[in-house]
Amino acid sequence: MSENVLKGSNKQHNLNNYEETYQNFSWDEAKQNFTWHETGKVNIAYEAVDRHAENPDKKDQVALQYVSPDRKESLTFDQLKKQSNQFANVLKDQGIEKGDRVFLFMPRSPEFYASFLGVLKVGAIAGPLFEAFMEQAVQDRLEDSEAVMLITTPELLSRVPEDQLPDLKKVVLVGDSTDIPDGYIDYHQEMAQASESFDLEWVDLEDGMVIHYTSGSTGKPKGVYHVHNAMIQHYQTGKWVLDLQENDVYWCTADPGWVTGTSYGIFAPWLNGVTNVVVGGRFSPEAWYGTIDDYQISVWYSAPTAFRKLMSSGKEIVDDFKLDSVRHILSVGEPLNPEVIHWGKKAFNLRIHDTWWMTETGAQLICNYPTMDIRPGSMGKPIPGVTAAIVDDQGEELPPNQMGNLAIKAGWPAQMRAIWKRPEKFESYFLNGWYVSGDSAYQDEDGYFWFQGRLDDVINTSGERVGPFEVESKLIEHEAVAEAGVIGKPDPERGEIIKAFVALNDGYEESEDLLEEIRQFVKKGFAAHAAPREIEVTHAIPKTRSGKIMRRLLKSRELGLPEGDTSTLEE
Ligand code: WT7
Repeated sequence: MSENVLKGSNKQHNLNNYEETYQNFSWDEAKQNFTWHETGKVNIAYEAVDRHAENPDKKDQVALQYVSPDRKESLTFDQLKKQSNQFANVLKDQGIEKGDRVFLFMPRSPEFYASFLGVLKVGAIAGPLFEAFMEQAVQDRLEDSEAVMLITTPELLSRVPEDQLPDLKKVVLVGDSTDIPDGYIDYHQEMAQASESFDLEWVDLEDGMVIHYTSGSTGKPKGVYHVHNAMIQHYQTGKWVLDLQENDVYWCTADPGWVTGTSYGIFAPWLNGVTNVVVGGRFSPEAWYGTIDDYQISVWYSAPTAFRKLMSSGKEIVDDFKLDSVRHILSVGEPLNPEVIHWGKKAFNLRIHDTWWMTETGAQLICNYPTMDIRPGSMGKPIPGVTAAIVDDQGEELPPNQMGNLAIKAGWPAQMRAIWKRPEKFESYFLNGWYVSGDSAYQDEDGYFWFQGRLDDVINTSGERVGPFEVESKLIEHEAVAEAGVIGKPDPERGEIIKAFVALNDGYEESEDLLEEIRQFVKKGFAAHAAPREIEVTHAIPKTRSGKIMRRLLKSRELGLPEGDTSTLEE
C-alpha cells in the first residue's frame, strides 16, 4: 500500500496535528473566534463581511474579485458591506421581514453577492437557484418555499410562472433600466437611492439562513433548511480543510445555486477574511488556467468532473501557463479518481484533497488535510468534532473493512435543521442517533473512509445531484411518452450520465427526431443538466406491484449485471 500513499506536508498549516486535535477539540473552542459567543446576537453576514469592513487593516482588501469574459470587477470588504446594506434597505422598504423566503435566480455576478448578503442582513432566508433551471424547476422551488420575493434578471423572467405563484409578491430585476417592465422593482434604480448604512437584524443562532433544494430518489425536490449556527463549521473547516491564510486568494468553482457555492463560495472564505474569486461564463481549460495565473489563485476548490476535463485537455495546455501560485487544491461532489490525483501531482506538483459532504450536512465532514497522508481513492477522515461510522440498517456500527451506510453522529454545527415543511422526511434521515447519508462506504483499519456508491437511485452527473423522479415526471408530460424510468449510467468523464427508458404512447413511432424532441423537452422545461443524454425506447417500464419504477432493475439490465431480487416485479 505504501507506494499508494501521498505523504502529508511537514510545513506549518492551520491543522498541524490531526490526531491530537481530533482527540481534544470541542466546538465550544471554535465559538471563541466570534464576538457573539458573549452577546448571543448573531448574523452570518456581519461575521463574513461587516466585521472585516470595520477593521481598518482589512476594509480595503478585495473581498470579491469577479471575473467573466465581459466583466471584471472587484469589491473590497468595505464596498461589499455598503452594497449589501443598500440592498437590505431596499428589502426593508419592500416590507421584507425576518424569516421571509427571498429567492435569487440569476447568474453569478457582483449583484448576486450583494443581494444575497442583503437578504441575510434583514434576517430573511435566502434561496439561491441555479441559473440553468427552467420553468418547472423554478416553480416547484418557489411554490414549496412560499417565497415572497424573487431577485432575477430580465432574461430569466420568462422562466418564472408568476401566475402560478400566489405567494410571490415582488420581483426585483437586475438589468438595464430599459429592460425592466412596469410592475417590477428595478435593482439598480433602487440601489442608487438606498442608504449605505443599515442596522442589521440580529438573529438567533438557530434562525433560518439559507434553503437549498436538492433531489432524492422520490418526490419533488426537498428544501434543505440551514441556520446561522452553521458559520461555526464554515469558519473552522475554512481553517483546517481549506487551510486559508490571511493572504490567500481563493477560488471555489461551484455555483451558489448549489451548497458548495454558498458554504465554500461565500461563507468559509469571507468568515476567514480572504479574497474570494468568482468566475462567471463557460468552462474552458484556457480560461480556467488563465484565471489561476491572472489572479494568482493560491487555494482552489473544484470538482472531479472539472479536473477530468482539464486532464483530457492535455499537457500542452498546462505548459502554456505558470500555475505556480497554487499551494492547495481540493475536490468535492463525486468520487475523486486516483488517476486524477496522480494527474494533479504532475500538472501542479500538488496533491488534490478530496472532501466529502452533502447539501444536508451544510459543511465538510470527511476530508483530507494538508499534513495528513493521502490514500488516493479515500475521502479521508472526519473533521475534529465530528464522529463518522459505517452502520448497518439498524444503525449499529460495523467493524473496519465492512461495507455499509456512511453515517455521522447527529448534532454537528452545520447540520440541516429541517426539510422545509416536511418533518417526516427530515426524521427519515436519522436512525439510532446517526444521520444516515444514503452513501455506502467502508472504513479501513487506519480510519480512512472509502466511498462505494449511492444506496438510493439519486444520480450524480458531473457532480450535480439529479432526482430520477423529477426527470421521469417531466418526460411523461411529453405527449409521446407513456411511461419513463431514469437511471444514472457510469461515464468516464461525467461520473454518470442520465439515461431514460421510455415507453411510447400508441400512434408514436420511434425515430431520431422524436427522441431528440423529447430530450429538448426536458432540457427546456426542466433543466439542461437534467436532460437525458441517452433515451431508449422500450415496450414497458418494470414496476413493482405497488407501481414503483424498478430503477435498480433497469440499471442492472443496462450494465449486464444479475437482476437480483425481482419478486416484487409486476407481471
Ligand atoms: C452526494 C451529495 C456538498 C458537496 C456537493 C454535493 C456525493 C459528495 C463526495 C466525495 C464521493 C461524493 C455523495 C453525496 N459526494 N462528495 N468526496 N466522494 N462522493 O452535494 O448535491 O448534496 O450531493 O454527492 O453521493 O451523498 P450534494
